Amino acid sequence: MKINMDDLYQKARQAADAAYAPYSHFRVGAALLAEDGTVFTGCNVENRSYGLTICAERGAVMKAVSSGCRSFVALAIATPDSNYPVGPCGACRQVLSEFMESTAPVRFAGSGSEVVNTTVGELYPYDSLHELATNM
Ligand code: THU
Repeated sequence: MKINMDDLYQKARQAADAAYAPYSHFRVGAALLAEDGTVFTGCNVENRSYGLTICAERGAVMKAVSSGCRSFVALAIATPDSNYPVGPCGACRQVLSEFMESTAPVRFAGSGSEVVNTTVGELYPYDSLHELATNM
């Protein structure tokens, strides 16, 4: 499948507009491309407890898996409230590595001109508990 990272990034940027971020005022949007071409988006959903906040990336994974999709070939993340690219947090890297190959492309960007194009493996080398990974 031809992967269009520009389109995927645009979907992530749109998803950021749905962010519920009244505490940080920092919107994040994520777009996950599934093997069959379906795109699942997510946004950060904060909570007044702070600790129960769910990141955009994990929101997208939960939406996809609960819709029956478990395999993703690309990810884009938009952080329009920063002028530099902000990568996924450590917890999200672990969760993404469960459902993506290390070679899968990842793009992230803020409101500035800098764009990071990387891969799941570069973001999460020596992935934790790799030996427990299953293809079920
Ligand atoms: N956030 C994400 O949604 N994804 C990330 O990768 C980094 C952080 C959210 C969590 C919180 O709502 C806000 O950004 C500030 O940390």
